[in-house]
Formats: sequence, structure tokens, C-alpha cells
Amino acid sequence: MTMDTSPLLIVEGLTVEYETGGALPWRRRTSRAIENVSFDIRPGETLGLVGESGSGKSTTGRAILRLAEAAAGSIRFDGQEVTAMGRRTPLAYRRHVQAIFQDPSSSLNPRHVVGRCVDDTLRTHGVDDPAKRRMRTLEAFEQVGLSRDHLHRFPNELSGGQQQRVAIARALVLKPRLVVCDEAVSALDLSTQGQIINLLADLQEATGVSYLFIAHDLGIVRHLSHRIAVMKQGHLVELAPGEQLFTAATHPYTRKLLGASPSATPEGREERRARREAFRQIHEAEIALT
Ligand SMILES: Nc1ncnc2c1ncn2[C@@H]1O[C@H](COP(=O)(O)OP(=O)(O)O)[C@@H](O)[C@H]1O
Ligand SMILES: [Mg+2]
Repeated sequence: MTMDTSPLLIVEGLTVEYETGGALPWRRRTSRAIENVSFDIRPGETLGLVGESGSGKSTTGRAILRLAEAAAGSIRFDGQEVTAMGRRTPLAYRRHVQAIFQDPSSSLNPRHVVGRCVDDTLRTHGVDDPAKRRMRTLEAFEQVGLSRDHLHRFPNELSGGQQQRVAIARALVLKPRLVVCDEAVSALDLSTQGQIINLLADLQEATGVSYLFIAHDLGIVRHLSHRIAVMKQGHLVELAPGEQLFTAATHPYTRKLLGASPSATPEGREERRARREAFRQIHEAEIALT
């Protein structure tokens, strides 16, 4: 995929603060979760975002999703200033910028069959004709390797990987231009991780969607990311093309992260081998779901 087009998303000098200390005014503090963060994402590109726990990755994603407010800086999506959108996020922006989080069981309603949750999303976004919704839901399920049967299951009747496929179907059914994937595969076992990463890559190839792919494990982002950004204590400290980061990390912190990444240890090599094996299997046999 060529990526010499102008950026889809431009984040510039982004700063986010949280209020802590509870209800008593004199105990209230503002703490800066991220400060002066800048990067862009091009159409069809995956930008990996890594860093240790608490470094501000989720906050960055949440600001883009308008779940956290920018204290300073700008977020421009397709030329439009996101921070100036007002209290209610416009439906069009919600359609174009979707999210997949770590724990699908918390984002899927346990009382509804999973087909319904994709259906609800379509209805929210104005697809009024039930027959059309059914057709698009089924299409989305097939796109993520689920079948007609899965439509009528409850979340707890599906495996973690299948639940995450439903979350992907829901995120992609509206044909978004950007998906923020926040630790989207971190809770899955190794071979399921490989399958979901492959699925996301295939869907990107087919649709040209961009990903902000957040993970604390460098080994995970490496397979998917065109470029990788590294965060430390609320700051973006390095941004480089994927492989370059692994071969010539300039920031000492990145080198430390690489050292700490399971992929750099002997067990990590084993883990990487297992992941590659999972990738190979999935390319040989078309996604055969249990
Ligand atoms: N809702 C919140 N209220 C107060 N502080 C928060 C909140 N969410 C995150 N933080 C703080 O902001 C910093 C960045 O957190 P986060 O973006 O979740 O990091 P990461 O996703 O990299 O683990 C951390 O110091 C964290 O404690
Ligand atoms: Mg996080």
C-alpha cells in the first residue's frame, strides 16, 4: 500500500490532564498524563504505540476518541479540528473513528446476542431498514471469520478470540477510516493473537483503514506496524519505521524496552516462533474457526 498521501490524522502538541483527589476542592490536583505529544497517521497506515504501563498510551488513544479532553494542542482528522467539536461528538466522527479495547466482554452487552450489538451500531448510525442491517451484520461477521451461527450466540458462549472478532466486526461495519486498537490482542493467548493480528492486517489491505495500534509489548506491534512511536512518562520519545526501531533504536529508553520485551529473550524467541507458526498456519488454511 502506498502511503505518500497526506496524513489522515495529525496530532500536535497534545497535552491531557486528569483531575485527581476527589470531591474536596482543596485536595484536588491536576496531573499531566501526556504532554506535548505529536505524530501523524496516514491513510492505510498502522502506527504502533508502545511504552511501559502508565506512559500515556491509552490517554493518547482516548483523546483521539474524545473520551479524554485535550488541555492543549490539536488533533486534526481529515483537516477537521477534533478538539473544537463541542461537547457531543458528531455522529460522522464516531463513524469514521472507531475503537477496539482489550476486554471484549466488557464492551459487549452480556444480555444480547452478539449479532444484536453490530445491529445496534448500524441503527445508531441511521441504517433504518432491518433487512439491510441483517445483511450488513452478516457480511461483517463473515469478514472477520465468523458465521451465521455466531450471530445468535451470547458473548459468554464465545471464546475470547471470537468475542474480539465480534468487536472488530462492530468497529468495521461502518467502514471507518481509523480504528484505535488499545491492547486489542493483549489478553489473548499466543496463537489467537496471531490470528487476530493477521485478520486486522487483511482487513486493512482490503479496506485501506488506518490503525493506531497500542500495546505494551513491542513484539505484538512489530508484526503490524508501519511505524512505531515510543512513549515514556507522558512524552513521545521516539518515532521510527518499524524495523528501523528494532535495528537502530536511538533512544536509550527504547533500547531498554527492547531489552525488556519478551521477544528479545530466549523465551521470547520461542514466543516469536510460536507466533510466526500461528501466522503460517492461518495463511495456509483459511481461517477455520472452532
Ligand atoms: N482516569 C484517570 N484519572 C486520573 N489519572 C489517570 C486516569 N487515567 C490514567 N491516568 C494516569 O495517567 C497516566 C497515563 O495513563 P495511561 O494513559 O492509562 O497509560 P498507559 O495506557 O500507557 O498504561 C498514568 O499516570 C495514569 O495513572
Ligand atoms: Mg493503557
